Amino acid sequence: MREKLEKIREEALGKIRSVDSMDALNDLRVAFLGKKGQLTDVLKSMKDVAPEDRPKIGQMVNDTRKELEECFDSMKKTMEEALINEKLKKEVIDVTLPGTRRVLGHEHPCNLILKEVEDIFIGMGYEVVSGPEIEYDHYNFEALNIPANHPAKDEQDTFYINSEILLRTQTSSVQIREMEKGVLPIRMIAPGRVFRADEVDATHSPSFHQIEGLVVDKGITFADLKGTLDEFCKLFFGKDVRTKFRPHHFPFTEPSAEVDVSCFKCGGKGCRFCKGEGWIEILGCGMVHPHVLEMVGIDPNEYTGFAFGVGLERLTLLKYEIDDMRLLYENDLRFLKQF
Ligand code: DAH
Repeated sequence: MREKLEKIREEALGKIRSVDSMDALNDLRVAFLGKKGQLTDVLKSMKDVAPEDRPKIGQMVNDTRKELEECFDSMKKTMEEALINEKLKKEVIDVTLPGTRRVLGHEHPCNLILKEVEDIFIGMGYEVVSGPEIEYDHYNFEALNIPANHPAKDEQDTFYINSEILLRTQTSSVQIREMEKGVLPIRMIAPGRVFRADEVDATHSPSFHQIEGLVVDKGITFADLKGTLDEFCKLFFGKDVRTKFRPHHFPFTEPSAEVDVSCFKCGGKGCRFCKGEGWIEILGCGMVHPHVLEMVGIDPNEYTGFAFGVGLERLTLLKYEIDDMRLLYENDLRFLKQF
């Protein structure tokens, strides 16, 4: 009996010490100490032991049970601690590791340029306004003195929705909407999207942006127009640029002009950038046509005004020296990241 006990004890201790999981440890506890366990079996066979030996053997069984229980408990504790340590190790946060950076976007080059232009005109006391992209023929053409037979009204140039409604081809429509409000004087710029039935190439797109300008007040003259746009060009392209006003025709201004700015790359001597011209064309402008004023109910004998329109993409391409307009629309991050 004594030997049997000793054997159970040794076997149990050996197995407990080399156990590798909590489940296996529990199984062992059941196998040795459980109701049908090996140690219980020994107790059950006490009846075969000589009566005088029973107390001694009983004592031995109890001692062994106690020793095994202690061994089980301490093994359990060791394993629990190991599990916790392992978990802690896994969950450790290294605060010195660099985080996952979010890629921050930024404004599109056209928006950067628009901000510059807006800042310049806001600095001169202008208001920034807007008008609808889907527009009545009336605002886009008729009220701007553009008669029914004008080539700009051709379907090849204009996206019509029906005979009265179209996608505006110019921001000049906002001039009429502002003047119609009847609040004078007016000092506004109106940036916005315009549409033309053009094929895509390096300088054309069916959708692009313009910035319209309009001033209406008593005593406004061509000198105000020249001074304003000359100042704009100096603030936008650099203080050394000169401007040139070339006579031109727009139906809604009289007189009308196109403005060239001396090449800001070569100072006007002529280079590759200005194609040897020394001048770069940038915008259209003129004095608001008296008939346009009359049509919105403003007395041209009391009020005069000037207007101008400039392409936002054109300004962007010039300022950043980009040679293909399509780059602005392709949404290629490798390109956009540079601004
Ligand atoms: N709307 C004209 C265009 O799209 C540009 C323009 C020219 C606007 C002269 C004006 C202006 O306000 O006075 O070609």
